[in-house]
Order: sequence, then C-alpha cells, then structure tokens
Amino acid sequence: MKRIRALMVAGLLLVGSSFTEGHAAASIRYDAAQRVFRIDAGQVTYAFGINGDGAVQTLYWGSRLAAEDALAVAVPPKSRSSFDPPGANTPQEYAGWGGPITVTPDLKLHFADGNRDVILRYDSHRIAGDGLDVRLRDAAAKVSVDLHYSVDPDTGIVGRSARIENQSTQVLTIDSAAAASWNLPPAADYSLRYLTGTWASEWHLRTRAVTPGATVLESRRGSTGDENNPWFAIERGGEWNESHGRVWFGALAWSGSWSIRIDQDILNQVRITGGYNPFDFAYRLKPGESLQTPVFYGGYTSNGIGEASRLMHAFQRQRILPQAPKPKLRPVLYNSWEATEFKVTEPEQERLAEKAATLGVERFVIDDGWFGARNSDHAGLGDWTVNREKFPNGLKPLIDKVHGLGMSFGIWVEPEMVNPDSDLYRKHPDWVLNFDGRQRSEGRNQLVLNLAREDVREYVFDVLDRLLSQNDIQFLKWDYNRNWSEPGWPQVAPEDQQKVYVVYVQHLYDILRRLRAKHPGVEIESCSGGGARVDLGIMGLTDEVWPSDNTDPSDRLSIQDGFSYAYAPAVMMSWVTGSPNWVNGRQTSLDFRFLSSMQGGLGIGAKILEWTPEEDATAKHYIAAYKDIRATVQQGRLYRLLSPQERAPYSATESVATEGGQAVLFAFLRQGQEAQAYPTLFLQGLDAKARYRYRTIHGQVAAGTPEVASGAYWMNHGIDVLLRTDMDAAALVFERVGN
Ligand code: GLA
Repeated sequence: MKRIRALMVAGLLLVGSSFTEGHAAASIRYDAAQRVFRIDAGQVTYAFGINGDGAVQTLYWGSRLAAEDALAVAVPPKSRSSFDPPGANTPQEYAGWGGPITVTPDLKLHFADGNRDVILRYDSHRIAGDGLDVRLRDAAAKVSVDLHYSVDPDTGIVGRSARIENQSTQVLTIDSAAAASWNLPPAADYSLRYLTGTWASEWHLRTRAVTPGATVLESRRGSTGDENNPWFAIERGGEWNESHGRVWFGALAWSGSWSIRIDQDILNQVRITGGYNPFDFAYRLKPGESLQTPVFYGGYTSNGIGEASRLMHAFQRQRILPQAPKPKLRPVLYNSWEATEFKVTEPEQERLAEKAATLGVERFVIDDGWFGARNSDHAGLGDWTVNREKFPNGLKPLIDKVHGLGMSFGIWVEPEMVNPDSDLYRKHPDWVLNFDGRQRSEGRNQLVLNLAREDVREYVFDVLDRLLSQNDIQFLKWDYNRNWSEPGWPQVAPEDQQKVYVVYVQHLYDILRRLRAKHPGVEIESCSGGGARVDLGIMGLTDEVWPSDNTDPSDRLSIQDGFSYAYAPAVMMSWVTGSPNWVNGRQTSLDFRFLSSMQGGLGIGAKILEWTPEEDATAKHYIAAYKDIRATVQQGRLYRLLSPQERAPYSATESVATEGGQAVLFAFLRQGQEAQAYPTLFLQGLDAKARYRYRTIHGQVAAGTPEVASGAYWMNHGIDVLLRTDMDAAALVFERVGN
C-alpha cells in the first residue's frame, strides 16, 4: 500500500507518506515546524534537519523511536576556538567543500574561473512513495545536489545517492563526489569491521578501533577488487558479539574504483563517506550537465553483527537481486574447468555431462577454451566464435545433449578483455585502455577493453547477444581476470579522459541490463578470478557470484564465513573439487568437501570421470540431501555459531528457513584438539515452543540425544556432535514436528 497523506500529529503538520510492504511498515515525514525529516522503517529511525545556517544536518540513526517522539532542531557543534569556526564540524548529510569546513566533504569541485568554494544549503524537497528527494544548492555558484533517499520497509536499510548538476554558465570539474556520508553519534569507543583479501585468499574479516584520524577502505583498480570490499560494520564498544551490540553497517553499490573513508574528528564525531574513489578522479560538467552517483546503503541493528548480516542477506534477496523479491534457488552446477582446463573437446564435454546428470546435477557449464584460438591463456580472448576444431558442428550438439539429459546449459565468457594475440586486437589495437605512446601492461597476457567507448560497448553487447540468440544458453559465467593499468582514453579530450572511471562501469551495467531484458531466461554469475567483483551494484544485475578460486574446503570455511558478513548465501557459489586441492595440496575427504560446499550454492568442479563407484554414491547422497535443504541454506536466516576466522580449529553455522519449519546445522573440525570434545552447539532462531526432530546427513551426535525435542531444548541444552579427527564434518537437519 502506498499513499501520500497529510497528518496532524501532536499539533504539528507532518507532510509525507507512509507505506507498508511485506510485514513491516515504513514512513517518511517532514516536520515543517521543526524543519526535521524523519524516516521510520523496519526497526530503524533515521532523521536529519535543516539548521539555522540552512545546512542539512544528521540528527539520529538508530533503533526505531516512538512516532510521537520529538527530534531536536539541528544545532551545529559550537565553535571551540578560532581553529574550529562555526560550521566547520557540522555533521552534514552531504557537505560541499567550501566555507570553513574541516570534516571530510562529499563534494569537491572547481570552476573554470578558478572558484573552488561550494556551500550546499537546503533548497527544497519532495516525498513520494518510498523515496525522499532533498535538493541542496549553492545559489551563488549555481550548483545543485539532489539527494535521494530510498527506504526498505522490512530491513530499515536506507539507500542514499546524489545527483550533482551544473546550473552555471561555465564549465566545472568534480574532483571528488561521494554518494553519501553517514554520521554516527559522537563516541570514542567505536570499532570497525571490514573485509580484505587477495586472489585465492579473499574475505578475511578484520577488526580495528576507530581512532582519531581516518581509515580508508578502497579500490583504485578500476573495479571492485578484493583487497577491500565496499562494505563496513561499526559497533559501539570493543566486545563484538554475534547477537548483541549496536551495529551500523553499509555497502556501496558500485563496481568501479571506490572509497569508504571513516573519520573520527576532535569532537569524537564519526563520519563514514563513501562513493567514487577521489584518486585520479575528475569529471567535467558543462553547463546543464549532471553526474549521478552510485547508491550507498546503510543499516542499523541493536542485535549484533549476526543480525546485521541477516538484514543484509534479506535486503539483497528482497531488493537488490534481479529476481527480487523472489530469487530462484541456485541449481546444482557442474563446471568443467578443473577437469579439462583449456583442452575442451566435444566428446569429453559430452561424457562429463552424461556423468554429471547421473549424479543429480541440474546445470552443466563449459568453462574457458571453447572459442577462437583459445588453447591457453596466451591467445584468443576477444574472438567469441566457436572453435571449430573443438566443436566441428558448433555448440548445438553439446547443448542438445545437455538439455536431453535434463540439465540447463551454461558457458564461460570474459567479454571485457582481449589477448594481444587475437583477431580483435589486431583489428582494433586502439580499443584498450591506454595512454598514447606508452606501454600497455599485461595481466594474464591480456589487456582491458575500454568499455567507456561506445563502439566497444556495442561490440561487447552484440557478441553476447549473438551468442545467446544463436544458442540455447541458460547461464553465463562472466569472468574478469585482471586490474586496470594505464587507464587512458586517448579518443576523448584530455579533460574528459578520467570520466572512464564512471562511464566504463555505467556501460558495463548497461550491457548487462540490455542482455537481461532481451534474454530474460539467462542467469549470470559475476566472477573476477574469484571474488574480486562482488558488490551491491553488480549484484543488481547478476544472479550469483563466485567468492574465490580457492576451492580448498578448509580455506573455504573462512572465505565463506567472511563473505557472509556482507553478502547472502543465496548468491554464494561453492564447488567440490579434487583432493589433493590444486591451491595448497591439502587432502580432504569427499564428505568434508561436499559439506563445506553445501553451505552455499552447490557446484561440482572435479574430475568426475575418474571417480570410483563409492565416490559416485557419496556424491549422489549429498546432492540429493542438498536439494532437501537448499531453500533453507540459500534463503534462510544464517547464524554463525563458531567462527573459523584466524585459522580457528572449529566452524559451525546454522540456517533457519524463513518460515521456521527447517533448520540445518553444519559443524567442521579442521584440527583435532588432543582428546577435547567438540564445543556444544546451541541452536538459534527456532520457535522455543515448537518441537523439532533431527536427522543426520553426515556425522554422529552424542549418545542419549533425543530424536525429538523442543526448540527451547535445542537452543538451551544444545547438541553435541562427535567430531575428533582432523578435517571432520557433520551436518544435521531439524524439521518441525506438526505445526
Ligand atoms: C578464472 C576463473 C576460473 C576459470 C578461469 C578460466 O581464473 O576464476 O574459475 O574460469 O578463469 O580461464
């Protein structure tokens, strides 16, 4: 229900809208007397007001307040000395760099005439449906910024972005532009969680105190990157706990260079500013032109980091994913990469498909090596025509075979890249990112196509459109295997070349959007040599992501755990591959490998033609068991029971189906601890009064464990799984008995 209304509450005229969706309600109101904007959604209230200077100042972000609670008029911090004049430290919603400002600005620009001073003040606003627009302006300089606020009624997550418009008669250049800044209540005891990593070692969770000064999380690589991920969580107090504590969290929806900067100033004000990375940034606006920033999402919970993650997961499923609010379950996938690498041939792919189908696989994916002269990573990227030596009659026979076996068909592409040894590069050497006359640094023997160019954008769209039109394909694994270097764009004026950071990503999104519209049955995975392009921007246009090339099932426990802080198991693909593992040579049982991979979207990437009948039987058992629990694992509420971070010996998670009927428990022991028992696992999120029967997918529990017990029993008495040896694992399913 959406309606706009005028309300008389407590004698104040509130003009705004209230709306309900799902089971929660949200409202956006403006109190004209106090000049206060207030957003209530989920368990959250967010408020800001117009202060005496006309600046728009944050007032409150936290647990939901009573509707009648009055929020204070915005009062800027007092001047402490001549070094902090009035207005310098105001926690503005979106600050221009101008006047005496010392806090990190959201917008910095310069005009052709040399002016670099921009003071943004409230101009007007509009409330419509589940959105709020607030216009800020520097009337003299003639620059306006339209702030847009979107609200998710269920999770209380607020989306914020800005559109900067040049209303003057001269050219201006934006030196830096954030999507938004989030201001926290002043305090000196905040701590920050963030994610860091590198190829095959992504998603390490790190914690550090927020102290006076700045912490910058960023990518200067042209894409999201894995050194940091554009996500943060900040908590009051040092004691982190999965289920207790005030946590503010957020994530940027942007797949290009980005930055999230956390400042604590002399007044203990904490400000989180996120958007385009200011490094090497410049965006020229002619009179009348504008720049729309990406969206910076932010949420709050008083129930700890575990609940913060669950809110993010629900938000992604209900609001972000292309199939939101009801994303399809991930099918069980087979991918031939580790089995054949570049040596793909039609007969062997057919044999792999036949074998995969007997195991219960639902989607067969042929990886790299099917096109052009692609016999290694030295040649062929860019030439997206089927290699006729490998597939004499094109892809159709293999695709028909796969469909005949009852599976959907998927294929690997890396459309943004080119090998210098390719027909495409020989024809269009000017299509790559480069500076005139300078070296072109290669990564994995490839260069980056400049997608910001319209001809390149159209080429990439046409190639993929043709591939999908001519072949009955249901899935693309979209890879991206290097960072940018020499990001020049010699075909446009020097003053416009740095627009590449924005336009490249806009064009990438445009291609994905058009492909999805034209081929609505096709699902897409975002892969970047593993998890180097996972963010809420790409997630809005893809159905799943590949968190890491590291498929070692023990390393993967930490990788998956770290991933889960920010992103949903609904999109996290995980494969069972060979043992010893190709990354680190570690040997693990097929049971351990399956159970580790069953925590996300299950895939198999092993040499299945070499499996023994016993291994086949094991695989069939787990694939069948997975199909019974996957809705809970992928789309349920995730509880992290034992953390595998910092190479801990244990890892345990529990997923509870959203309607509560089923819970799935995974427990892993990386390294036995002398004769010590595995820690008792206390389930969470069950209905205390309901009764649940457990069954085992793998492993044993302590003697005397009742088959059926109340939710209260499983949550308070807990359950003891018997895990003692290295690389051992167990999985249990709890089903509610009766209603
Ligand atoms: C990247 C991917 C792998 C595989 C290869 C193919 O490394 O992450 O899964 O697709 O490319 O070249």
